[in-house]
Amino acid sequence: MSGFVVIEGIDGCGKSTVAETVAGRLGPRAVLTREPTDSWIGRAVRKGGSEEMSPYLDALLFMADRANHTPEIADHLANGKVVVCDRYYHSTVAYQTAYLMRKSRGDNFDWLLDANIRISINPDVTFLLTIDPEVALGRIGDRGELSRFERADFLKEVQDNYLRLAEQDPTIVQIDSTRPPGEIVEEILLALDERKF
Ligand code: TYD
Repeated sequence: MSGFVVIEGIDGCGKSTVAETVAGRLGPRAVLTREPTDSWIGRAVRKGGSEEMSPYLDALLFMADRANHTPEIADHLANGKVVVCDRYYHSTVAYQTAYLMRKSRGDNFDWLLDANIRISINPDVTFLLTIDPEVALGRIGDRGELSRFERADFLKEVQDNYLRLAEQDPTIVQIDSTRPPGEIVEEILLALDERKF
């Protein structure tokens, strides 16, 4: 069966390793993809991250990348694939709500969610990898220099926004990602199996 699976969580939660392993275990019927993408707009998003710019432009760049990426996901689904996506629209709602709040632009959660739903495909299931931001930060620390997103207090706000999304969306499944990645992968594969993927 085709299906759209999203893996989400704060930086350092281990989602990229988990997404890669889950897609690998599903075999050739699975397609692994990610956001920000590797397209020209995805590269613009990454470039923007290193510059001082309007926090609204920041949000809109991530969304432009998504608007460009979504038809590609739709094509894979139409071809009967299981698409495993490392980050999708929940990332923008979680991160950009936190970022806009920090930049004194108030609470932008509702319009970011509305606008993103319009430009996105509804995932069949989203696995939200939750973790203590201090622990996540310790993991990122091993990978070198921290980006502006990668600070514990910011990551806590981001995770709170993810949890706010999970409260109103039953297709979001929370996974405790303090455990070893192998265990998380097994839990996700079991959940996919139960959903007949
Ligand atoms: P990430 O997938 O973690 O890339 P990398 O493997 O290079 O670390 O994404 C990069 C950063 O972009 C990460 O801190 C989360 C952030 N981000 C947003 O703020 N909004 C979004 O919509 C997306 C997709 C990512």
